[in-house]
Amino acid sequence: MNKSDSERLAAVLENIGFTQTENETEANLIFVNACSVRQSAIDRIFGKKKRWNKRRETGDLKTFLLGCVLPKDKPKMEKAFDNIFDIKDIVNLPEILKKSDIKLKQSKKDGQNKFAPDSDYFHIAPSNSSKVSAFVPIMRGCDHFCAYCAVPYAKGPEISRPARDIANEAKKYIKQGFKEIALLGQNVNSYGLIRPRWKMVDEKTKKTYPPESWVLDPKSSKPPFVQLIEEIDKIPGRFWIRFITSHPMDMSIDLIKAIADGKNITPYIHLPAQSGNNEVLKKMNRQYTIEWYKEIIKNIRKYIPDAVISTDIIVGFPNETKKQFQDTMDLFDFAQFDIAYIAKYSPRPGTAATHYDDNISLEEKRRREKILTKKLSEIALARNQKLVGKDVEVLAESIHGQIGFGHTREFRGVKFPYSGPIGEFVKVKITKANPWGLMGEYVKR
Ligand code: 5AD
Ligand code: SF4
Repeated sequence: MNKSDSERLAAVLENIGFTQTENETEANLIFVNACSVRQSAIDRIFGKKKRWNKRRETGDLKTFLLGCVLPKDKPKMEKAFDNIFDIKDIVNLPEILKKSDIKLKQSKKDGQNKFAPDSDYFHIAPSNSSKVSAFVPIMRGCDHFCAYCAVPYAKGPEISRPARDIANEAKKYIKQGFKEIALLGQNVNSYGLIRPRWKMVDEKTKKTYPPESWVLDPKSSKPPFVQLIEEIDKIPGRFWIRFITSHPMDMSIDLIKAIADGKNITPYIHLPAQSGNNEVLKKMNRQYTIEWYKEIIKNIRKYIPDAVISTDIIVGFPNETKKQFQDTMDLFDFAQFDIAYIAKYSPRPGTAATHYDDNISLEEKRRREKILTKKLSEIALARNQKLVGKDVEVLAESIHGQIGFGHTREFRGVKFPYSGPIGEFVKVKITKANPWGLMGEYVKR
C-alpha cells in the first residue's frame, strides 16, 4: 500500500518538474512514507535525522513525512521534518511545498489541474514502478481494531473507492499492456461492506457515507468485493488479478468460489491467522475462532486444490504460553502455508494491547520465531519440491544479468535463465526447489 501511495506521490512531483534519484545524498527533497506497524521501521526514520539535519541547516535539503504515524510519535517526528502531511493531501502538494519555500518549475494551477480534477488523490495517475504489474488500491483504513495494531489509528476507518473507478482503472492498465492487476487494501474482502457504526452524512455535500457506489449491484447477494473481482475478470485481455490482504472474518464461500471459477483470478490467498489459539485470538480481538479459520482453509483446499495460502503470525503476544504457541505450530501442519510473515510482538503506543505487560522475553520471542520459521521452511520445501520436473506458467517480471524473475499464477517466485522480453507469460520447466522459491529452464514455444 505504501509503495502504491509513493507511486502517486512520485507522479505529482514529476508533474511539477522534479525527478527521482536513487542516491539519497543527491536529493534536495526527501519524502518518507512511514509505516508504524512495528517500532523498528519508526526507529529507522529517527536514525536518519542526524545526517539530514546537517544538510537541512544549510538549506540544501527539505524533508517531508507522510504515511502511517501514530499520534504519540508525531511530536518527535516534527523536529526531523519540514512538513508532515497525509497522503490524501498530495492533491495540494504544490501549496505544501511553497509553504516550505520550495520554488516550483510549473505554475501551481497548471500542475494541479493536470493531476487532481476533483481533489480525490486516487484520481492521480500513479508513476508505475513496474511496467508489468499495476497496483490498484481499492480501499483504505481499517475498522477491525486488533489489540496490537497501529493501522486503525494511523490510517482511520475503512473507506472504499467507487467500484466503477476501480474497474475503469483496471481496464486502462490492461489496455496499456500491464499483465497483472494487484488489488490492494488493508482488508480487501471488507471492500464496500457497510458497517453501521460509521454511517454518516458529509455536512458540506450532504452525501451519505458509505456511498452506494461501493457496490456494483446492491441487489446481488454476493459481497461487494466478489462483485468487483468478477467484474474485473470480465475485462477482455490476457492478465492476472491478485489481491492482498484478506481478513478471515470477512472471508466468504462466494469469494472462494469466485477464485475457483474465475478466468484471470489467481489462486493466491493471503489470510493472516496471527495465532493458532482461541484465547490468544480473543485477546488480540481478531473476531474469529481457530475453528472458523480452519473451515476456511478446508474450503479453499476443496474448491481450489492448487491454491497457495500465506499468512501473518505474531509470536510472543503478551502472556502467550508455550502451549498456546504450540497451537500455532499445529496450525502450520494443518494449513500447509507456503509463505508466512512471522513477526515478534512489538507494543505500539496507544493500542489496546499496551494494557498488557509485554512479558515474553526477546530471547523467547526469537526462539518461537526461529522454530516456526523452521517448520514453515520444511512445509514450503516439500510443497515446492512437488513441482520439480513440471512445466509451469510464469509472468516474466524482471531480468537481472541473464536471470529472469517472475511468479507463477499461485505467486511462487521463479528464477530462470532468460534474456527477455519482460511482461510475457512464459513456460518454465522447474529444475530445483528451495523453501522460498523455484528455479527452472525457459521452455521456448
Ligand atoms: N507487533 C508485531 N507484529 C505486528 N503486526 C501488526 N502489528 C504488530 C505488532 N504490534 C503484524 C501483523 C499484521 C502485519 C501486517 O504486521 O501480523 O498482519
Ligand atoms: Fe491491523 Fe487488524 Fe486492521 Fe489488519 S485487521 S490492519 S491487523 S487492525
